[in-house]
Amino acid sequence: MSVLIKNGRVITAVDDYHADIFIEKEMVTIIGENLTMKADKIIDAEGKYVIPGGIDPHTHLDMPFGGTVSADDFETGTLAAAHGGTTTLIDFAIQTKGHSTLEALDTWHAKAEGKTAIDYGFHMIITDMEDDRIHEMETLVKEGVTSYKLFMAYPGVLYVDDGTLYRVMRKAGEERTVICMHAENGIVIDEIVKRALAEGKTEPKWHALTRPTRMEAEGVHRAIAIAEVADVPVYIVHLSSSDALEQVTLARNRGVKAFAETCPQYLFLDHSYYEKEGFEGAKYVMTPPLREKWNQDNLWRGLQFGDIQSISTDHCPFCYKDQKEMGVGDFSKIPNGGPGVENRMSLVFNGGVVEGRISLNKFVDLTSTSAAKMFGLFPKKGTIAVGSDADIVIFNPNRKETISVNNPVMHNMNVDYNAYEGFEVTGISETVISRGKVIIEDCKYVGKSGDGRFLKRGLYSE
Ligand code: URP
Ligand code: ZN
Ligand code: ZN
Repeated sequence: MSVLIKNGRVITAVDDYHADIFIEKEMVTIIGENLTMKADKIIDAEGKYVIPGGIDPHTHLDMPFGGTVSADDFETGTLAAAHGGTTTLIDFAIQTKGHSTLEALDTWHAKAEGKTAIDYGFHMIITDMEDDRIHEMETLVKEGVTSYKLFMAYPGVLYVDDGTLYRVMRKAGEERTVICMHAENGIVIDEIVKRALAEGKTEPKWHALTRPTRMEAEGVHRAIAIAEVADVPVYIVHLSSSDALEQVTLARNRGVKAFAETCPQYLFLDHSYYEKEGFEGAKYVMTPPLREKWNQDNLWRGLQFGDIQSISTDHCPFCYKDQKEMGVGDFSKIPNGGPGVENRMSLVFNGGVVEGRISLNKFVDLTSTSAAKMFGLFPKKGTIAVGSDADIVIFNPNRKETISVNNPVMHNMNVDYNAYEGFEVTGISETVISRGKVIIEDCKYVGKSGDGRFLKRGLYSE
C-alpha cells in the first residue's frame, strides 16, 4: 500500500515546512515539493499539520491492580489511543514476586499479541530480584525490553526496598538501559493512610490528603541519589508536583542523568476535583494524586525549560460503576488510576500551543520525539524522515471538539466516564497512519485489531 500526503505543513521536533510525503512499504520514502507519483491513497492535508504519531510511554492495559483489572485491554486501549493520534504505546509487563521476569514477558505478550491497533513495547516492572536471577536482565535487552519500572510506593504489592532498587539499578546501568521510577515514600504514606482511616476519614479526598507532595519529593530525591551512585539514567514517571520537580531540577543542574515525565491530569486537573458531590471524587483517585492548582504553572515551566522531557498519560482506567465503587466507605480500596490515552494530544496542543505555553516543535517533542529517544525507538519512531516508520497524524489545528464520554470523536476508551468531561479543545487528530496504513480516517477507525506489532526497543539515546 502506498500513500501520498499532499499540501501539508510538516512539523517535527526541529522542522517546520510545507511538503508532500510519499509512503511505501510502511516507511516514509520521499519528502519533497509537488510530488506527482501514483499512490493507492492520496490525502489532501491543506491547512493541516502533518506530525509524527504520538508516543505514550506509560499505559496500563489489562492490568490486574487494586483487586480488579484496568478496564481497557490491548484491543480497546490501543484503538482509543489511535483515535487520539497516538501510534505507539509502551505498556508494562509485571513480574510476579518470586517468579521470572521472562515468564512475565510471555504473559504480557499473550495479552497483547494480535489484538492491538497500533505498535507497542513493554517496560518490565520488577517486584523482586535476587542475585541468581539478575542475568535475566541481559535476556530482556535481547527481547527488546530496555527499561524497568520500580516502585517506592504500594508496600506489599509492587514496592521494592532500597537494596533491591540499588541492585536492579546497577545491573540496568551496566546494560545501558533506563530505570523508570514511581517515586513516593510508600512506607510513610501507608502510616498516614492507616491513621486517617482510624480517625474515620474515608472519603475519596483522603487519598490525596494522605499523600503529601513532600513524600513524592523525598522519593524523587532518594531515587535520583541511588541512581547516581548506581550509574544509571533515571526517568521519574508521572511527576505531579512542584516539590518533586525541584528535586529533578537540582539533580540535572549537577549533571545527573535524571529525567521526568508528567501527565495531562497534573497539568489540567487539580485537588478541587476531590471536592465533587458524593463519591464522584473517586474518578480522580490516582497515584500520585491531583495537586493544588498552583503546581501546574511550575510543571509547565519544567516542560518549557526541559527539566521535564515528556508527557505520558499513565492511562489506567477503572469504571466508576463497580470498580471505583469498590472503595465506598474506604478510600484506600478505590482502585488507583484514571483514563486519558485518547485525549493526550488534543489536551497538550490546546493547553500548550493554543494557549501560548509551548511551540509547535516542543509539542511534537513532548508527545512523541523525546519518548522515542529515551526508550530506544528513535529514529524509526518519533519523527518524520526518509526511512522512518510512516506513523503520521494529520492534525487539524482549527477543529474544536468537546471532550465527553458521549462524543465518539473524543471518547472510545472502555470506561464509563471521561476525566476531562466538558473540556473544549481546539486541535484534533483527524487522520492517523500507522506504519503506512490509514487506521483513522476523518476521526473514524478503519483499521483492524492486530495491525499493531510488538517493538523490540534499542538502548536509550539523549
Ligand atoms: O494511579 C495510578 N497511577 N495507577 C497506575 C499504577 C501506577 O502507579 O502507575
Ligand atoms: Zn506509578
Ligand atoms: Zn503508571
